[in-house]
Amino acid sequence: MERNSCFDNDEYWIYGRSILFHKTRMRTTFLEINKLIKLTGLEGNRSVLDLCCGIGRHSAELSRRGFAVTGVDITEDYLRTARENAVKENLAIDYQKADMRDFCQPDAFDLIINMFTSFGYFEDAQDDRKVLENAFVSLKENGKILIELLGKEVVATGFREKEWLEYDGYTVLAETKIIRDWSWIMCKWIIMKDDYKKEITYSHKLYSGTELKCLLEATGFRNVRLFGDMSGAPYDHNARILLIVGEK
Ligand SMILES: C[S@@+](CC[C@H](N)C(=O)[O-])C[C@H]1O[C@@H](n2cnc3c(N)ncnc32)[C@H](O)[C@@H]1O
Repeated sequence: MERNSCFDNDEYWIYGRSILFHKTRMRTTFLEINKLIKLTGLEGNRSVLDLCCGIGRHSAELSRRGFAVTGVDITEDYLRTARENAVKENLAIDYQKADMRDFCQPDAFDLIINMFTSFGYFEDAQDDRKVLENAFVSLKENGKILIELLGKEVVATGFREKEWLEYDGYTVLAETKIIRDWSWIMCKWIIMKDDYKKEITYSHKLYSGTELKCLLEATGFRNVRLFGDMSGAPYDHNARILLIVGEK
């Protein structure tokens, strides 16, 4: 399948890597997984799919805790890092290269996670629906899905058109635009370090809590709940992320 999104080649992921996976984010993964386990009630040696696993920070942490983990991503460079790290730690993680619109393994998982705004990348709304349908089929009966992304309301309450950010010695000028009647966000990052300067742009769909909830329910998920952080706070004016959990 064609990679019909702004992330249509590896350039964004390779140049954005140091910013996306900066040290603080890597370090907080441990706590994130603590909260995720509590929120979803995950226990024992259950099977987890980390859909769009990136360099495998959540996959590795879940595997360390004894869960059977499959990590799926489309970016070869990230999968290479994820596999190398798993080998170093002797973690048996099944990393697979696939497009999230194609990956489907019927009745295989107790939990599917999709973390850090890895949903809403496609121009065609049917593609997002396809991702959810595949996830639904891939879950065992009573299995759960958890998606964490930048919700429309979260963007609206903290909107900044221009922002200077610092990550591990990189300075980033982030410019953000809201387009298509508040349904998409478009970002330009100018990444600088010493003589290095690289500009990357990306855009993705902006889901409101209710829009995403309706989409999950239309796919067949039940007991769909929204949260504003990983501790399970309500999705309200204080929300820092949009977190959605649904059951098969
Ligand atoms: C923002 S990163 C998040 C990575 C990881 N979930 C984390 O929290 O560290 C989004 C990930 O989605 C992957 N991705 C983008 N388009 C994809 C597609 N069509 N199918 C599968 N993975 C995709 C990228 O390669 C990248 O690793």
